Amino acid sequence: MGILTLLDEGSKKITDQKIIKSFMNERGIIFEQWETSIPLNDSDSQETILKAYDHELGPYMKTHGYLSADVINVHKDTPNIEAIRAKFLSEHTHAEDEVRFFVDGEGEFFFHMPNTHEVFSLLCLTGDFISVPKGYTHWFDLAPKYHVKAIRVFQTPEGWVANYTNSGTEKKYQS
Ligand SMILES: [Fe+2]
Repeated sequence: MGILTLLDEGSKKITDQKIIKSFMNERGIIFEQWETSIPLNDSDSQETILKAYDHELGPYMKTHGYLSADVINVHKDTPNIEAIRAKFLSEHTHAEDEVRFFVDGEGEFFFHMPNTHEVFSLLCLTGDFISVPKGYTHWFDLAPKYHVKAIRVFQTPEGWVANYTNSGTEKKYQS
């Protein structure tokens, strides 16, 4: 159940899931809600979290050619939390689609569309599944909650590699 913020339109917020879904789909971004009824703990290992949701992610990975998966598990006691946040906070692209399944907590994606230059954000909450096409300029913020468990899947052995744009766009939207 995400929250869409139109940052170029006075930060107008949209909570209607149908509207959010079609807004994202029109822009080529897949946004869905998946079942997340399995309770998880902050101390759970990556293996435990992956195993808990293998019944949902496994078939998706097989169909879409994903080879590996890992977990971002961040909470208030995570060491070097600001360094982890900073890694995702500058505008970047990837050479493959960025797929995230939020199984606990929340995090906010920011998108900077290349042709229209519109900037909007999508707060992803527990149960949200998102697939961002390769090459899309975006950034991601763990703040203000600093509490998220999200499963990531990858098509290449390199996994998560960010190509930073160094445009500085994100700074206009960060306080
Ligand atoms: Fe990314």
